[in-house]
Amino acid sequence: MTQLTGLETPLLLLDEQRMQHNIDRMQRRMNGLGVSFRPHVKTSKCPEVVRRQLAAGAHGITVSTLKEADEFLAAGINDILYAVAIAPAKFDHAMRLSRAGVQLTLLVESVAAAQQLSRHGMENGLCHEVFIEVDTDHHRSGIAPDDPLLAQVAGALRTDGGRGARLKGVMTHAGGSYSLNTPEALAAMAEQERARCVEAANRLRAAGHACEVVSVGSTPTALSAKTLAGVTEVRAGVYVFFDLVMAGVGVCTQDDIALTVLCSVIGHQPQAGWIITDAGWMAMSRDRGTQSQAHDWGYGMVCDASGRAIAQLQFGEANQEHGVLQWTGDPATDITRRFPVGALLRIMPNHACATSAQHQAYHVLPQAGGELERWERFGGW
Ligand SMILES: Cc1ncc(COP(=O)(O)O)c(C=O)c1O
Repeated sequence: MTQLTGLETPLLLLDEQRMQHNIDRMQRRMNGLGVSFRPHVKTSKCPEVVRRQLAAGAHGITVSTLKEADEFLAAGINDILYAVAIAPAKFDHAMRLSRAGVQLTLLVESVAAAQQLSRHGMENGLCHEVFIEVDTDHHRSGIAPDDPLLAQVAGALRTDGGRGARLKGVMTHAGGSYSLNTPEALAAMAEQERARCVEAANRLRAAGHACEVVSVGSTPTALSAKTLAGVTEVRAGVYVFFDLVMAGVGVCTQDDIALTVLCSVIGHQPQAGWIITDAGWMAMSRDRGTQSQAHDWGYGMVCDASGRAIAQLQFGEANQEHGVLQWTGDPATDITRRFPVGALLRIMPNHACATSAQHQAYHVLPQAGGELERWERFGGW
């Protein structure tokens, strides 16, 4: 087993074997459903991880910031979907990416953005490729498939002499799937996501707009869809690591979760049954995503250094750099001996994207065993 002692904690540990299993599972599923797969790289923000997703068969990537586009272009990836509706102040940044060789797709969901982006393309001599965001579950942003606004936005995308902004397709993200937890409800949500997004594409086609791409996806729906007729590509992000929220939704088991935070015991309050660690909310993030699920894991699920769950330890309180673990086992246990100062624990995160974002690098437990590897990740905008 890879040696973990002597490391400065807290740090992010990544189990490469579990991650590769998650990558292969999703890619097999997408191949079986006959769709192209475009992973959302906001989860890892790490070229080493994304290279493995592409090697498994993914086509292009999805990003949530233009910084991700910059970083992945530098890593040699140039088929990029920026899947957040673009703000006008980012048009020039998008243009720089296109001119640097990125096959960039942008997202709009308003007539104003469509008009401004078209004008920007015309004035600068380029053609922005655009998706319209479709709302299939009233979770967040986008336009409902039966809303006349959909065709108005498409109509506001203009090209002149090959310059401007061109409609390339429609995109939706069924984030409503995160609050579900039965296979039946998840399959129904996946079907709703598929059917409504295809409906949006068909309405646009009927109004005379070419709409080549129909892009859907979230980890729960991608893993629950029975058919993806009419869909051309699927996006998913958190599946690469999985987390406690996804286990609560029911699309993975705890044994699939590839990410943990390694921390050290730094003190005790024996009368209260508290074990204090150096992983507070700064190391875990403030994300309490399991709070609304059947099992609330507090700030994460506590495991021993080998990754085995310790059911009697609950991580209910966190300060910035202190984790407070509550011993709920036999009150006669001497917790200062069982978990001495310096002992290592591992915490499974509620939300892998949020916890990863608190760290600069992944410390990778290699599939083949041996020394820990360090894979850099980036943050910011
Ligand atoms: C537009 C879009 N697509 C895809 C995803 C991936 O979702 P998940 O992390 O559930 O796979 C997200 C996540 O927020 C998203 O915002």
